[in-house]
Amino acid sequence: MRVLGIETSCDETGVAVYDTETGLRAHALYSQIALHAEYGGVVPELASRDHVRKLLPLIRQTLGEAGLDIADLDGVAYTAGPGLVGALMVGAAAGRALAWSLEVPAIGVHHMEGHLLAPLLEDPSLQPPFVALLVSGGHTQLVAVEAIGDYRLLGETLDDAAGEAFDKTAKLMGLPYPGGPELARLAESGRPGLFKFSRPMTDRPGLDFSFSGLKTQVLLAWQASDRSDQTRADIARGFEDAVVDTLAIKCERALKQSGARTLVIAGGVGANLRLRAKLQQMTGKLGGRACFPRPAFCTDNGAMIAFAGALRLQSGQQADATVTVAPRWDM
Ligand code: KG4
Ligand code: ZN
Repeated sequence: MRVLGIETSCDETGVAVYDTETGLRAHALYSQIALHAEYGGVVPELASRDHVRKLLPLIRQTLGEAGLDIADLDGVAYTAGPGLVGALMVGAAAGRALAWSLEVPAIGVHHMEGHLLAPLLEDPSLQPPFVALLVSGGHTQLVAVEAIGDYRLLGETLDDAAGEAFDKTAKLMGLPYPGGPELARLAESGRPGLFKFSRPMTDRPGLDFSFSGLKTQVLLAWQASDRSDQTRADIARGFEDAVVDTLAIKCERALKQSGARTLVIAGGVGANLRLRAKLQQMTGKLGGRACFPRPAFCTDNGAMIAFAGALRLQSGQQADATVTVAPRWDM
């Protein structure tokens, strides 16, 4: 089954073709970063309009790279939520219309299920049960994955998501949008231990997170500092270490609690190199393993939607002919 995947939930237009026999055939991504940079964040209306402009050319490009004709598709999957409503509608309307005209089934995919399954796309040996850490700009969740489609929430953030904390902290130190990767780059030249921020909620039981207090700690440290480039890097390093340690402590707790030995990391913050190294080290110590998608499949992409959609279509699920999206949607 050859499935076209379409991702338009936020500021990336992602398209891919996944073949259930041979794997990923092609994928393409167009990022709107330059478009939103001057506003310091994503402007929803501009995002929708840009998806309209880029989606069809990207579908043509992806099919060309896969060596396929549009009539070779056996199904279409699109992100149906959560995300920006206008942006989601662009992908859903295009995907649903395309499937209707080709007389093939369509399926609306949960964006976070796409992230969650992305590690399986590249490593078919990876199978449930496992614990997943979902860390993106909108979510920070620990999920027990018993089987594909069988997800149990173990813990989540009570306020800011980890990616959101990276972005907001970067912004208050004057770093350009998108802040997370910029802050991580800056932290490379920062010295560890000079700025010590708290590891929120690690001193009490449970698997929930809270990251909103960290940005206030950073703001106070930044305002009281000499504001030199080196200090900014040192603060960035202190902040990154605090987030990475906090995530690692809760992941270790979740593994021990559930008895699982495999930790799967997904979502944009999964591209963070220090987080990857730390979780690899922690799971190694427990005699388990940490699995990540390649960094390009940690952040938003069409491949994860094509893959998650293919699994659901294969199991016989499909969306009806209405174009429906869910800007807020629990997985
Ligand atoms: O999954 P994603 O692409 O979009 C959402 O669904 O939210 O995640 C984007 C988030 C942003 O908050 C971004 O700052 C963060 O992931 N991010 C990073 C890194 N790369 C992306 N955070 C820390 N270190 C990185 N290297
Ligand atoms: Zn995402």
